[in-house]
Amino acid sequence: MVRTSTLSFDAVPSPLPVTHIKKPEVCPVSLLFTPYTLPATGRALQLANRIVIAPMCQYSAVNGAAGDWHLAHWTSLLNSGAGLLTLEATAVTADGRITPDCLGLWDDRTEQALGDTLHRARRLAPPMPVCVQLSHAGRKASSAAPWQGGALLTPAQGGWQPVAPSALPQLPTEAPPTALTLEQMAQIREAFVTAARRAQRLGIDAIELHAAHGYLLHQFLSPLANQRSDAYGGSLENRMRFPLEVFAAVQAVFDGPVGVRISAIDWVEGGLDVAQTAEFARRLRALGCSFIHVSTAGVSPLQKITLGPGYQVPFAGEIRRASGLPTTAVGLITQPQQAEDILQAGDADLIAIARVLLYKPRWPWEAAAALGGQVQASAQYWRCLPREAQSIFGSVKIAQR
Ligand SMILES: Cc1cc2nc3c(=O)[nH]c(=O)nc-3n(C[C@H](O)[C@H](O)[C@H](O)COP(=O)(O)O)c2cc1C
Repeated sequence: MVRTSTLSFDAVPSPLPVTHIKKPEVCPVSLLFTPYTLPATGRALQLANRIVIAPMCQYSAVNGAAGDWHLAHWTSLLNSGAGLLTLEATAVTADGRITPDCLGLWDDRTEQALGDTLHRARRLAPPMPVCVQLSHAGRKASSAAPWQGGALLTPAQGGWQPVAPSALPQLPTEAPPTALTLEQMAQIREAFVTAARRAQRLGIDAIELHAAHGYLLHQFLSPLANQRSDAYGGSLENRMRFPLEVFAAVQAVFDGPVGVRISAIDWVEGGLDVAQTAEFARRLRALGCSFIHVSTAGVSPLQKITLGPGYQVPFAGEIRRASGLPTTAVGLITQPQQAEDILQAGDADLIAIARVLLYKPRWPWEAAAALGGQVQASAQYWRCLPREAQSIFGSVKIAQR
């Protein structure tokens, strides 16, 4: 939204007398609020700043279809001032959903629901590019929503039989998934491709493939979940094969950035390590990948995670340096200066934020105030700014009556 102005920010009504309003000092532009271009083999994508809204499942779809909750949630996030909204893990097949309540994009009905809801949300907010995280849950499918305990559901409980690279359950107490045949793998790859085509039709700007957190593509990568004896299991080369095939197939049909979210390490002895995921990232780059989004964990209940502020950032830095890919860091990044420091240190190009944005949906506004940046906001909100944040909407024109 370009706003020309006859009034400066000084004229914005304020709780304080006008004489007490200080013009902002000229701050060096922060990296967090410097625009970024996501490269693509097709259309590149301009982001207004480096804040990415991380994908967050809402467990609120009806048979895969987006509805009123998504309208309210996406509208709020689109009004946050971030540079990119990533929609939650969106299943490419019905049995690829994590829970029966997960969002999907596998047929005309789910496409129409996602498209209508997103279109309505976008009309209620300033422009922000949207990325969809395409996903298949593999052996973690058919689970109850977290607030219903998260346990594996049997068909009698509304669940279904999950599939996976190998017939190894996530938890030793669970029934094993069915090991995928080559024919079924080809069908899943095609489902990713069809979902990508649907996303393009809906005006979605970018795709993130979910290869993290123990879901299907991560299951193929990790020796803890993949014990196949064919060309898709065993060596790293073989374990990478299916995720790379899915990436190449999706990228071939999508005009725009296609990136991948990975778990850099499994946090389990004998699991994926950063040397392996760095190699995966290098292979993705050779295929024209647009970005890598670096998370960790999720494939094994034996994981021992060392938690702390920015605990996954060193992995992002390592993968970025090894692969040269545009890199998103995520995980307990909660402070504007912390986000800025990660970018300044060269550990990432983009910063993804999840939980904080649920708690403080206008976190990017606060970050702009703290770092001297600017964000776009709906005109209905222009009069809200406290004294210390007067310049974050740029020069807005508000009539005084
Ligand atoms: C409610 C919720 C839902 C999530 N759903 C997804 C998801 O759909 N896909 C995904 O890759 N990660 C998902 N995550 C993980 C987040 O994207 C993020 O990586 C994690 O919360 C760490 O970032 P944070 O410390 O900023 O919250 C979810 C997290 C939360 C809290």
